[in-house]
Amino acid sequence: PRRVLLDCDPGHDDAIAMLLAHGSPAVELVAVTTVAGNQTLEKVTRNALAVAELAGIDVPVAAGCDRPLVRPRIVAPDIHGGSGMDGPVLPAPRRAVDRRHAVDLIVDTVMGAEPGEITLVPTGPLTNVAMAARKEPRIVPRVREVVMMGGGYHVGNRTPVAEFNVLADPEAAHVVLNEPWPVTMVGLDLTHQAVATPDVRERLAALGTAASRFVGELLGFYGATYRSAQGFLYPPVHDPCAVAYVIDPEVLTTRRAPLDVELHGALTTGMTVADLRGDEPDECRTQVAITLDDTRFWDLVLDALRRLDP
Ligand code: BDR
Ligand code: CA
Repeated sequence: PRRVLLDCDPGHDDAIAMLLAHGSPAVELVAVTTVAGNQTLEKVTRNALAVAELAGIDVPVAAGCDRPLVRPRIVAPDIHGGSGMDGPVLPAPRRAVDRRHAVDLIVDTVMGAEPGEITLVPTGPLTNVAMAARKEPRIVPRVREVVMMGGGYHVGNRTPVAEFNVLADPEAAHVVLNEPWPVTMVGLDLTHQAVATPDVRERLAALGTAASRFVGELLGFYGATYRSAQGFLYPPVHDPCAVAYVIDPEVLTTRRAPLDVELHGALTTGMTVADLRGDEPDECRTQVAITLDDTRFWDLVLDALRRLDP
């Protein structure tokens, strides 16, 4: 199985990403790190531990950066509620957070594995991953690839052109996009195709497992806020799309394109800019996700949840 470190800010869809990574036989979730994003570091770390408790995820969970590199922190209670994961009643975590800082856990995990073994999957602001690349640059050629949920080449959500994870810490995104590791950007263009429709909700309910009930409760709250705050009929579940791509690359199509982020725009700060004109240089290591096979995607999610039934 592909070995994955998930760097996240749970977050309703981050929680589903954790469950997908843990439940899928095609990937081995080796560690979870948390970063301030959807809510404060303290809250998202507690949420990550609660999800680990619920699903029996027995890997280190380490807390990381409590704010972006340069800018003031932004959080997303309008989507994720005051706790960062409102809706379900969360189990009290029995396991403690790892003593290490997330940045050190990322460095230790990558340096302790064979070159090309670890895939980093960031599904929150990129603060921890950028810090890890700066603290120990030798991780960069050792990481197999970075599959990030964030950005978008045509559309934003927090501003007309900026997506939340990238807008929250654009300087960190700049570091991650400009290091010479392979990066797949699973942005809003892709994740807005991963919609939790009533049909999906019915399939989930029919599973009847503790994990599927939990996801159903998550989607109840998240669907309501997505409808009232963003005007979506049904909510897009962003973060598991990045995990799904690691499990099965055929779940989405990609296109190689030079990729960077706007840091100084009057209207466009935090916008990811993909050069889709074609003729990308041979050394281009970045690609963007384009089209989702949503049947395949939901089959992966449901299959993982089914396997989590003890
Ligand atoms: C991203 O922002 C967060 O609200 C979600 O968890 C996802 O990672 C979508 O813009
Ligand atoms: Ca997230």
